[in-house]
Amino acid sequence: MANMKNAKWVVKSHPEADLSEDNFDLIYDEVPEPDAGQVLIKTKTLVITPPLRMAVGSGGITGSVVPVGDMMRGTGQGEIIVSNHPDFSVGDVVSGAFGWQEYSISDGKKPFPIEKIEARAGQPLNTTMHIMGASGATAYIGFYDLAKPKPGDIVLVSAAAGTVGSIVCQLAKHSGCKVIGIAGNQVKCDFLVNELGIDGAINYKNSDVAEELKALCPKGIDIYFDNVGGEILDHALDIIRPRARVILCGATSQYEADGSWYGPKNYFNLVYREAIMQGFYIFNYRDRFPDAYRRLSDLINQGALKYNEDILDGIESVPSALVQVLSGENFGTQLVNVSQES
Ligand SMILES: NC(=O)c1ccc[n+]([C@@H]2O[C@H](COP(=O)([O-])OP(=O)(O)OC[C@H]3O[C@@H](n4cnc5c(N)ncnc54)[C@H](OP(=O)(O)O)[C@@H]3O)[C@@H](O)[C@H]2O)c1
Repeated sequence: MANMKNAKWVVKSHPEADLSEDNFDLIYDEVPEPDAGQVLIKTKTLVITPPLRMAVGSGGITGSVVPVGDMMRGTGQGEIIVSNHPDFSVGDVVSGAFGWQEYSISDGKKPFPIEKIEARAGQPLNTTMHIMGASGATAYIGFYDLAKPKPGDIVLVSAAAGTVGSIVCQLAKHSGCKVIGIAGNQVKCDFLVNELGIDGAINYKNSDVAEELKALCPKGIDIYFDNVGGEILDHALDIIRPRARVILCGATSQYEADGSWYGPKNYFNLVYREAIMQGFYIFNYRDRFPDAYRRLSDLINQGALKYNEDILDGIESVPSALVQVLSGENFGTQLVNVSQES
């Protein structure tokens, strides 16, 4: 498009340890003209989540590693600004894997599929990027369908102040469970107890997690909803009760480990305590999404389910947003408003 520049982030280097902004370069190229059957999308918002770290490291569940010099992967919402496609109109809001850039082209399926987005169950459109989207479904389905809570169960949740974790904590309270959360600073721990009403919180960065767990859960735990893996998973396995359910949702503590993942040492407790440890991948449960969204929306409308967004502005902020997510400096779902002020 004449006189229009597209700012995009490319991978400059693969980090040897912790990710930094220096691992990316901001470059500018021409905004392409869409051909017949294609649309031009202007990125509105990018969602920044922990597994993105694997795109510049181990590959992991997000697939192959982005080569140096290529644009960084990323998903979000965008607006169609030119349409040569019969199924899409100018002004449609779509979701897709646009990458870390301001403008992108798609034919609806390639180089990435796009899907028209509408508000779900009456909630604001932005919530389709978290509580009324895959993260909300992950919390709801992972907790109700897989962990199968019973009133009185003792539930432990890691990354408890994060997008998925904070929803699980609240669902567990609504289900009559005792809930203990693990988070990375005191503000988050206070929020979990004072705002979300859970029964206790552990700051894993400044305490002995194993000792704190024994103090807060002297009878052990019935459910562990694991978002972080690593040593915290091991501490949880140490205190599982008979027939406990350990639900493997994520392993954020390992996404920077690049191949040398920490494996659990206490897994043998699963055997004589007849407990289960089960992983799940949310996109294999799509048929359950509508039910999850309806129920989550009902709880939001009743004032019984809260969520936070942590929003940075501008394409320039995208790498620092990912660094922030990996260091735990964010508070709530990390979004970057690429083409609108928050
Ligand atoms: N199975 C599935 O289908 C599925 C679907 C969606 C998400 N997931 C996974 O679920 C997990 C949670 O996802 P989310 O989107 O809700 O992310 P999130 O929990 O909101 O992620 C950000 C938080 O992760 C915590 N964190 C960062 N580095 C950490 C580390 N080294 N050790 C422990 N905690 C760390 C930080 O909180 P603190 O300040 O508390 O450290 C940070 O604020 C992720 O692992 C994600 O990959 C899985």
